[in-house]
Amino acid sequence: MEKRRIVIAADHAGYPLKQALIGLLTAEGYPVADMGTDSTASCDYPVYAEKACKYLTEGNADLCILCCGTGIGMSMAANKIKGIRAACCTDIFSTKFTRLHNDANVLCLGARVLGEGLAWELVQAFVTTDFEGGKHARRVAMITEIENRR
Ligand code: RB5
Repeated sequence: MEKRRIVIAADHAGYPLKQALIGLLTAEGYPVADMGTDSTASCDYPVYAEKACKYLTEGNADLCILCCGTGIGMSMAANKIKGIRAACCTDIFSTKFTRLHNDANVLCLGARVLGEGLAWELVQAFVTTDFEGGKHARRVAMITEIENRR
């Protein structure tokens, strides 16, 4: 399978995890675009969620990974953007099924919740699992219809 193009971003709390994931993804041959932040200096996660999601929805990457303290703020901000289906995950099952059934295009991770080892397992499940389509495509289209209507 062709390696998916990944865009990644974090706030200060997610910065160390982002750096670790960039190293691991790059070592596995994934093209990774880093949208910041560039240090552990305090910053605002919505800025980085928007920047990375813009990069994704403009077609420059296939999947996005966002890291903050809990993963929740990043997912809330990302899900305000048209075309984004962001999932904040802490277990392998949900991570796999949000690709299979929801066609999630953004994985949000909590650096203060997950160890680096588990975070890497989740990332690997996310980037190697395909959307199942079929009846799930109809439901994902319904999410888009809500997005367009509300
Ligand atoms: C930063 O302190 C923290 O609020 C942020 O990283 C994130 O957890 C928000 O959801």
